[in-house]
Amino acid sequence: AKTVYHDFVIQETKVTRLCKTENVMTVNGQLPGPTLEVNNGDSLVITVVNRAKENVTIHWHGVRQITTAWADGPEFITQCPIRPGASYTYRFKISGQEGTLWWHAHNSWVRATVYGALVIRPKEGTSYPFAKPKRDSVVILGEWWNANPLAVIREAMRTGGAPNVSDAYTINGQPGDLYNCSTKETVIVPIDSGETNLIRVINAALNQQLFFSIANHKLTVVGADASYVKPFTTNVLMLGPGQTTDVLIKADQPPARYYIAARAYASAQGAPFDNTTTTAILEYKTAPCPAKGSSSKPVMPTLPAFNDTATATAFTSSFRSPNKVLVPTDIDENLFFTAGLGINPCPPNAPSSTCQAPNRTRFTASMNNVSFALPSNFSILQAHHHSVPGVFTTDFPGKPPVAFDYTGNVPRSLWTPIRGTKVYKLKYGSKVQIVLQGTNIQTAENHPIHLHGYDFYILAEGFGNFNPATDTSKFNLVDPPLRNTASLPVKGWTVIRFVADNPGVWIMHCHLDVHIGWGLAMVFIVDNGIGELETLQQPPADLPVC
Ligand code: C2O
Repeated sequence: AKTVYHDFVIQETKVTRLCKTENVMTVNGQLPGPTLEVNNGDSLVITVVNRAKENVTIHWHGVRQITTAWADGPEFITQCPIRPGASYTYRFKISGQEGTLWWHAHNSWVRATVYGALVIRPKEGTSYPFAKPKRDSVVILGEWWNANPLAVIREAMRTGGAPNVSDAYTINGQPGDLYNCSTKETVIVPIDSGETNLIRVINAALNQQLFFSIANHKLTVVGADASYVKPFTTNVLMLGPGQTTDVLIKADQPPARYYIAARAYASAQGAPFDNTTTTAILEYKTAPCPAKGSSSKPVMPTLPAFNDTATATAFTSSFRSPNKVLVPTDIDENLFFTAGLGINPCPPNAPSSTCQAPNRTRFTASMNNVSFALPSNFSILQAHHHSVPGVFTTDFPGKPPVAFDYTGNVPRSLWTPIRGTKVYKLKYGSKVQIVLQGTNIQTAENHPIHLHGYDFYILAEGFGNFNPATDTSKFNLVDPPLRNTASLPVKGWTVIRFVADNPGVWIMHCHLDVHIGWGLAMVFIVDNGIGELETLQQPPADLPVC
């Protein structure tokens, strides 16, 4: 195994998309940022130097960070932000994960333009569990605003309303030729007739789940979130922000150009969303060149309708582990977390300009009726490690304060969560089950729920209220998939299990970024496991302080 070194210089960069130039934060002037390529078992040392005017932190999304919680990255959870002019070196190891992950900024909406792929090839001396693909391409889906993304979210937090929707989705940073001024830069993914490509699809969009398809080509899914899966074939993928899906495609069609396309799966009924389509081009190397001046477009795939929940759910429930797995049983912590939106009434003398959600309210979001508030003067990990009082409380509830019909007509009295920095403590080594229950408060919506520091098994998902009497029998205890982000279905539930064998402070949140700002998050503290093999390392000397 080797150690891979990178320098990430965070800087303001002029970027032009859709004929508009914005000054946005980038890594090394690139959008997307650099692709990191490693083998399972390698170590990474990445020095982040902040030459921009705003804070930054970097999160290595899906990397387990075993004993290295200090390198996880979410601001005020495992570190204070890297201030302008400061730097921090992230050191961590890839152990046991193969496939595709990614990295992104984890403060405010900086990740709109600060993100990139993390490609993890098989451990040296081992091979893929499928025939080695001829080529290996990254397709990273993003979202672009004709504005500074930080200004967009700041405006929304000021007004209490919803942020402006994006102006384009992107593939490898480019909107593609269905948008104005974007034809020349449309991304080309090359393939040779007869060959098989591995395509690593990553949803790095801020606020949108996306359908993905390639015209006339079947997609054979072989991995997700850096775990292999039992291969299955589909025409369309659905990825929530945070999720990755590795697919094999075989060039078995007439040599030509085929669109690779993505557009919204918008599960929130009635809420505005960006209804545009991003494209790249799958180009057979032997395809005849399009005649000069011809407007012949590549073949376009059929993408599902924006509200096609049946297709989205059929896809997310198709995943299996390749073999039988050891699912944790004899559960020590049986948790039930609601996840959903809500609204807060405005204080009586607040100006109307700050209460722009319907009927003089402000949007909010919560888990178990707690709207998560980030600390501002310490990270929770630092406070926990040094026993600093007053930064957080340990009373995050393991169940909702009152049981109600979560997906029915929710009474107004349940729409107002309390705000707090509440954590839930897990004993090292405990076996945890969480029923994630979506709610119908304000707007029901899918929530891509991401847990830091762990992969978890997804045992089952369904619609309506989770019913232990009947739904437990649906649990897959044989070969459930291992993921780091679960698509909690709209007005539905998902059940996950994991063993709390990684000491540290780990945030679990909805990966729709606007929902994080509104509080759809909570934090686990897993104790240091004194006496166990896996003990949290000491904080690095250059760890940013607040
Ligand atoms: Cu991909 Cu908490 O993040």
